[in-house]
Amino acid sequence: MVHSNAPLLLKMNGIYKSFSDVEVLTDVHFDLSPGEVHILAGENGAGKSTLMKILGGIHTDHSGSIEVNGKDVDFKSVQDATSAGISIIYQELSLIGPLNVAENIFLGKEKSSYSWLNKSQMLEYSKQFLDKLGLDINPKDNIENFPIGIQQMIEIAKALAFDSKIIVMDEPTSALTEPEVKKLFKIIEQLKEQGCGIVYITHKMEEIYSIADRITVLRDGQYIGTETAENLPSEKLIRWMVGRELNQQFPRHTPHIGNARLQARVFTKENISKGGEVLGQ
Ligand SMILES: Nc1ncnc2c1ncn2[C@@H]1O[C@H](COP(=O)(O)OP(=O)(O)OP(=O)(O)O)[C@@H](O)[C@H]1O
Ligand SMILES: [Mg+2]
Repeated sequence: MVHSNAPLLLKMNGIYKSFSDVEVLTDVHFDLSPGEVHILAGENGAGKSTLMKILGGIHTDHSGSIEVNGKDVDFKSVQDATSAGISIIYQELSLIGPLNVAENIFLGKEKSSYSWLNKSQMLEYSKQFLDKLGLDINPKDNIENFPIGIQQMIEIAKALAFDSKIIVMDEPTSALTEPEVKKLFKIIEQLKEQGCGIVYITHKMEEIYSIADRITVLRDGQYIGTETAENLPSEKLIRWMVGRELNQQFPRHTPHIGNARLQARVFTKENISKGGEVLGQ
């Protein structure tokens, strides 16, 4: 359900980013509406995570403009991005081992409207967010006790706690089991209904077409295009991602048959003893 008349949650325009002298993003555009899943697709190294790390206030030395809810922003830190309602669930999860679930959910709460919470309130609120996600988890348990799939859900609970409207999931299913993926997709539906926009990074075709409203493709740091899922059939999407038809991945060519430069011969005790007979074959 895309709220097409609603103002954009996010608009990133003309984004450039270099590491040392190597340009990894060149004039990239990306926007997000409330209630949509916008897939950010592209091959390994295309620049997807880097673009989202800019949005998340991790990389601050980029050029281009970012608007959140129609207002220019210039994030100098992760806290700046969080305060603007942006939650990013990174490929490398950011939960902290020695802390319990509730402490992780409210980590950084000093910057949010929850700054007044005491410990027991934190536990109570955490339980509410976990329930909302259908997670039967004791918020007092240490985060390390949970498998990665559950840790990811706890990251989503954290996004809910901070009332984030822009939720980025960077290849969230790479460590999930099939039922966990189904659960995640249900949660994404719920988040859409609440008016959140989801940026979902993946290159798994079946995932793209089961949840995408729109798709943007990056290739080698270049912006290739944005389309609705209906208007971007998989062949075209693959062409956008890899820059050629998939059946041209190993281009057919007529082999040039020249003279053999090296001839393999089998030497066994038996045929060595036959000498010239083998070599003559
Ligand atoms: N911290 C960094 N320092 C130097 N180069 C980096 C850094 N982070 C990313 N890069 C480079 O920037 C380019 C884009 O990387 P990025 O991680 O954004 O790609 P990606 O599209 O997320 O790929 P993947 O699908 O593998 O996660 C790559 O060439 C990568 O090597
Ligand atoms: Mg990445």
